[in-house]
Amino acid sequence: MPEEVIRVYDLKKYYGDFPAVKGISFSVKKGEVFGFLGPNGAGKTTTIRMLTGILEPSEGRIEVFGMDVTKNKLKIRERVGIVPEMANPYIDLSAMQNLFLMGRLYGMKKREIKERSLSLLETFKLYNKKDQKVRTFSKGMKQRLSLAMALLPDPELLFLDEPTSGLDVMSARLIKDIIISEQQRGKTIFLNTHNMQDANELCNRVAIINHGKIVAIDTPEKIKELGAKYNVVEVSFSPFKVNEDFFSGKVKISGNKLNIHTEDVHRTIEEIVEFARREKIKIVTLNVKKPSLEDIFMEIVKENA
Ligand SMILES: Nc1ncnc2c1ncn2[C@@H]1O[C@H](COP(=O)(O)OP(=O)(O)OP(=O)(O)O)[C@@H](O)[C@H]1O
Ligand SMILES: [Mg+2]
Repeated sequence: MPEEVIRVYDLKKYYGDFPAVKGISFSVKKGEVFGFLGPNGAGKTTTIRMLTGILEPSEGRIEVFGMDVTKNKLKIRERVGIVPEMANPYIDLSAMQNLFLMGRLYGMKKREIKERSLSLLETFKLYNKKDQKVRTFSKGMKQRLSLAMALLPDPELLFLDEPTSGLDVMSARLIKDIIISEQQRGKTIFLNTHNMQDANELCNRVAIINHGKIVAIDTPEKIKELGAKYNVVEVSFSPFKVNEDFFSGKVKISGNKLNIHTEDVHRTIEEIVEFARREKIKIVTLNVKKPSLEDIFMEIVKENA
């Protein structure tokens, strides 16, 4: 049994009367990339801030490395790296100065800070900018520095709040490659994202969160299987004709095409053929669209709205 690095029991957070997180429970295993996937306002940042001890939970319990977060904030903080939603380097300091500050905070030796910082600046393609004030950095550069700062003390556990959000393809790729290599080095990663592709590519398991509740939790593959019922058969007839009641699946019209939502692709195709024959019309195009993780996510979110 792999060790569980994070355990969360019936966690809740109210902002005033507003329930932002409504009783979630889950655990994250050592060495896992665990994705928290949800739309804007789902409660992802609120959750990560509670997990990292920045925000007090209203109810429930969180254990990190087997310790209660509210009682062991500092002990836990020494072993984790955090990349917050908004990049957090000081803008009046240079990249190198920010890294130094972070290293000192973690009690690292000067020499160790310097060596590791230079190597991280290289990795994150910031070496040439190391002495420049962060004020002059682009969003992507700030985000990369933010991740370099989180990695500086070589933490066992990383919390990343949408680390690739708003970044260009190259910067996003760089950050994703680093997530992959950190996992290969045995690190555990908790990743907030609203990007389905990232979740699919990076995560061993994904929790889908919506309106403060976990609505599905599984491997990306299993979540896709869950969604096997969300097939769409797209068909166009010539001449255009439609009788929505004829089909057992839900029919949506889009331009000159019918999109028939169905669990049973075979049956739907039989119905299409029968409909064409009966109406004496021709099938011009026929497409079976298997749901992407994104479609499934949309359906699951809709079902739990
Ligand atoms: N400080 C706050 N005071 C009051 N309400 C808040 C506060 N922070 C967040 N909320 C509300 O709590 C809910 C969850 O917000 P949260 O920031 O956790 O969402 P999120 O999943 O991180 O969204 P996003 O993808 O946009 O970052 C939202 O409805 C938000 O408006
Ligand atoms: Mg957020």
